[in-house]
Amino acid sequence: MRYPHFILLCTLSPLALGKLCPIQGPAFPAPKDVASSSSFTQAKNQLLSTLDKAVHASNASEVTGIDPDSISFSLQVFNTKSDQPLLEYYHTAPSIRNSTVGVREVDADTVFRIASVSKLWTVLMLLIEKGDASLSEPVAKYVPELRDAAKELSHNATMRDDEIDHLRWDEVTIGELASHMTGVIRECTVSLGVFLTSHQVN
Ligand SMILES: *[C@@H]1O[C@H](CO)[C@@H](O)[C@H](O)[C@H]1NC(C)=O
Ligand SMILES: *[C@@H]1O[C@H](CO)[C@@H](O)[C@H](O)[C@H]1NC(C)=O
Ligand SMILES: *[C@@H]1O[C@H](CO)[C@@H](O)[C@H](O)[C@H]1NC(C)=O
Repeated sequence: MRYPHFILLCTLSPLALGKLCPIQGPAFPAPKDVASSSSFTQAKNQLLSTLDKAVHASNASEVTGIDPDSISFSLQVFNTKSDQPLLEYYHTAPSIRNSTVGVREVDADTVFRIASVSKLWTVLMLLIEKGDASLSEPVAKYVPELRDAAKELSHNATMRDDEIDHLRWDEVTIGELASHMTGVIRECTVSLGVFLTSHQVN
């Protein structure tokens, strides 16, 4: 796609101008002993008491937008160096106190459905197992319909020149899809629509 190339060029341009461009890294060293930091303890206590107030306020659902009588949650903050949470907070909604399925008390061991967050784990596992090479591969390599759409585009100059309505799927990578950098519009009806109609796919 065009945009990532444009961004890449912008990133490289200081090099081309002969300016030094240091390798990006953390601006500050990672904190070592957060648990014993007084600033952290202060912020932690403030957060916990704010949460407590929010959850137990009589108008809690108006203030937070969630109803603490029907929503249970766990909050844990970890340091990568330790298994013990730096901060933890558990809220059990009164409505599950007599529940016959699942737990009646939310604690550190409660298991939640994580829904869409599971996508993060898929990508993390992919990175660990296979490295990041597949992220720069075109998505058309794996999806035959997109490969065919790209082929059709390459044979039709009118479609190829219409960069608003027709995507060059052979240039769109898995990494660009994962980082929302493809420029693919939400309802990509024209680009795929032409292809789907011409191939009579329903
Ligand atoms: C909720 O209650 C608190 C304390 O009584 C009050 O200060 C606040 O304005 C209330 N918020 C709303 C949105 O009603
Ligand atoms: C749970 O059961 C107790 C004892 O039977 C009852 O007093 C309470 O109202 C019930 N709570 C809910 C949320 O149903
Ligand atoms: C190219 O695509 C346009 C727009 O979809 C279409 O009208 C035209 O017939 C196509 N040309 C060829 C040679 O297939």
